[in-house]
Amino acid sequence: MTQAITARAIPELLTWPEEGITRVPMHVFSDPELYAWEQDLIFRGPTWNFLCLEVEIPEPGEFITTHVGDSPIIVVRRKDGSISALVNRCVHKGSIICHQPKGKRTRTHNFVCPYHNWIYDFDGNLTSIAFEKGIQQKGGMTADFDKTEHRLTRLNVETINGLVFGTFSDETPPLREYLGPVMVEHIERTLHGKPKILGRYSQMMHNNWKLYIENSRDNYHPSLLHAFFSTFKLNRLSAEGGTRQDDKSWHHITFTKRYTDKGDAAYDSGMIRAQKEDFGLKDPSLIDQWMEFPDQITNSIQSIFPGFVLQQVMNSLGTRQIITHGPEKCELVWTLIGLEEDTEEQTYVRLKQSNLVGPAGLVSMEDGAIGGFVQKGIKGDLDKRAIIEMGGKSVGGMPTRATETSVRGFWKVYRELMDV
Ligand code: FES
Ligand SMILES: [Fe+2]
Repeated sequence: MTQAITARAIPELLTWPEEGITRVPMHVFSDPELYAWEQDLIFRGPTWNFLCLEVEIPEPGEFITTHVGDSPIIVVRRKDGSISALVNRCVHKGSIICHQPKGKRTRTHNFVCPYHNWIYDFDGNLTSIAFEKGIQQKGGMTADFDKTEHRLTRLNVETINGLVFGTFSDETPPLREYLGPVMVEHIERTLHGKPKILGRYSQMMHNNWKLYIENSRDNYHPSLLHAFFSTFKLNRLSAEGGTRQDDKSWHHITFTKRYTDKGDAAYDSGMIRAQKEDFGLKDPSLIDQWMEFPDQITNSIQSIFPGFVLQQVMNSLGTRQIITHGPEKCELVWTLIGLEEDTEEQTYVRLKQSNLVGPAGLVSMEDGAIGGFVQKGIKGDLDKRAIIEMGGKSVGGMPTRATETSVRGFWKVYRELMDV
């Protein structure tokens, strides 16, 4: 165990309900000891975690800093073009070594800890210690101190279509095997060219990280919670769509195809919270789109366990990365992307549609609030259980979005890794 695991073992903290993955004990969303276990068994366990886009560090020496769960990470391009990911924690006394979000290091000026100036190379090797030999033959490190025995913790790194993932564990299968063919195919489809970054923002959410991940896999809330979607007929459950999963149901894709008018009675009856009147946008060009993909899919949300989402909302493509901040808070980092071969007009459409997503997005702002509603709602009732039974009791892809099959998939893998 690498984290500060507390004295109590998981079985004392969590007994999973007999019903299995259709019930979730509410206290998993606020218990600090379970949170500490998650850091070890999930984020530092046999999982691939999104780190950045390759295009953020194109040149040798370029780096970004990020997190995997609570662990601070430096991701740097080596001289030979490969990518190195290191825990951003000095082996001397534990200080953060690099506090800049991004930058470039030359060969002679690698990563210098600000506290006592211990220096590391791009592989995390400790290359220099200030005053190692003391001053005027006095002081300094002991003669038997061997720098080569101390180095930054290194993650294994793999990439797919310009996305960089890292894992702490040698037990994690290769990235493409971990994702499975269905997920790989969808990533290749969405990122069908070389990505370029159009913008970035992040938001703090007042909820446990798992509540956001559940939300990203919850197929049937978008047309209900996000009134913009259903009001302007961008996404209704009556449109053709469905859910795909990998063989083990660790990951998920929800998708919608171009809207048709079929099967709208439930919305038009007023039973579902959606505007009956024919509302129109003052500037309809906001939702102008071009049919980018031959599969006619206009919206798809792909969620890779544990904390990564690849988004296509019409022509708005982007990545979302969850960073944990204690049991009742998390951060969502959004990076909006276009493709190198996009025309100027296409880039403009993508930028315009970025008004739909992000912390203040016309569509997605509710997702930033709803987790906080749950976090507040469950206080005092942590012995209660959530009901995850829409669309059955099992996991697996379905030709509908009126299902919580992928939320169950999340709890299936959570139970496997946490052994509960
Ligand atoms: S804590 Fe980094 S050099 Fe001392
Ligand atoms: Fe949502």
